Amino acid sequence: MQQTKIAGTGHYVPDNVVTNNDLSQLMDTNDEWIQERTGIVERRWIQPGSGDSPSTMGTKAALKAIEKAGIDKTEIDFIIFATLSPDYYFPGPGVMVQEQLGLDTVPALDIRNQCSGFIYGLSVADQFIKTGTYNNILLIGSENHSGGLDKTTRGRGVSVIFGDGAGAVILQPAQSGTEGILTTHLHSEGKHAKELALIGPNTEHWVDKILEEKNPEDTSYYPYMNGNFVFKHAVTRFQEVINEALKAVGLNSSDIDLLIPHQANLRISQYIQKKMELSSSQIFNNIQKYGNTTAASIPIALSEAVEEGKLKQGDLLCLAAFGSGFTWGSALIRW
Ligand code: UT7
Repeated sequence: MQQTKIAGTGHYVPDNVVTNNDLSQLMDTNDEWIQERTGIVERRWIQPGSGDSPSTMGTKAALKAIEKAGIDKTEIDFIIFATLSPDYYFPGPGVMVQEQLGLDTVPALDIRNQCSGFIYGLSVADQFIKTGTYNNILLIGSENHSGGLDKTTRGRGVSVIFGDGAGAVILQPAQSGTEGILTTHLHSEGKHAKELALIGPNTEHWVDKILEEKNPEDTSYYPYMNGNFVFKHAVTRFQEVINEALKAVGLNSSDIDLLIPHQANLRISQYIQKKMELSSSQIFNNIQKYGNTTAASIPIALSEAVEEGKLKQGDLLCLAAFGSGFTWGSALIRW
């Protein structure tokens, strides 16, 4: 069957840089704690009124990926959009990108798998390319976290780690049987759904009800995360799913030229690096600059890694993610 290659990458982040010291003006936190626990130095947060949103940032990243792929935007035949922070409750931002790019009636699929959203999207795109259904799939991961975070001391365990931004790739049939996506692996475990979640608003707890209640102590419309619990599962699942992919194609961690893990926490990345016995040149991290951008983190990092010349033809690229759901996944790509 036809393999899928990444033909172009692009990313876009808002101009507004928010440092750890900026956060300490809003809540009881400090640069030392944030850097020590997460590695994050700064993140981008959308400036209200700037016009940036998950869909518009996604479109900007997409235009760069389209240019890099050397195609005309009208050649895109399928759009996949991964986010946990859609512009609207519904419809999803996929159709907004379709409209913003002026792409007639091209189908648009929205993926709601949080940090694993990009990997899930990649796997879905891979199936459509393999079967010959589509030839130029636009896959976007984009997030506006800053609009929904609890920026008081109450929310510091969550809010300091998240940032805004978008990344995009163009997926095409590979020219040869040796290049492209070798394997993808997906998982979920819904029994932990509430360990990293934003419960309200939801269809049983809709906005009018929240407003009617007007209870300032109600934190349910802010994201909740059981950080330690999530961390412990993350370090295990990352390793498992990377090894699962390597085993599927008969390779070892030493064969990985570049691992781009979902940028959840530098400590998680460093732990995986150590456990998988990878050198610093075999792993790419940029959480220091952008924080955790959920579905956007892998495509932003991939786009930067490409720009920095970290990938050459024939390299084995490994992508892996773990997050809310819990959901997790991996992909191995021959560059
Ligand atoms: O992307 C999706 C998947 N998400 C992840 O993989 C995230 C996984 N979890 C984590 O990255 C970490 O658990 C966090 C970075 C969220 C938190 O780090 P931690 O080392 O687990 O800290 P903690 O929650 O155990 O908190 C330790 C202490 C607490 O104080 P006490 O109870 O020891 O007195 C917190 O109240 O640090 C305090 N604390 C803070 N202090 C300053 C929590 N947040 C902050 C803060 N600034 N922002």
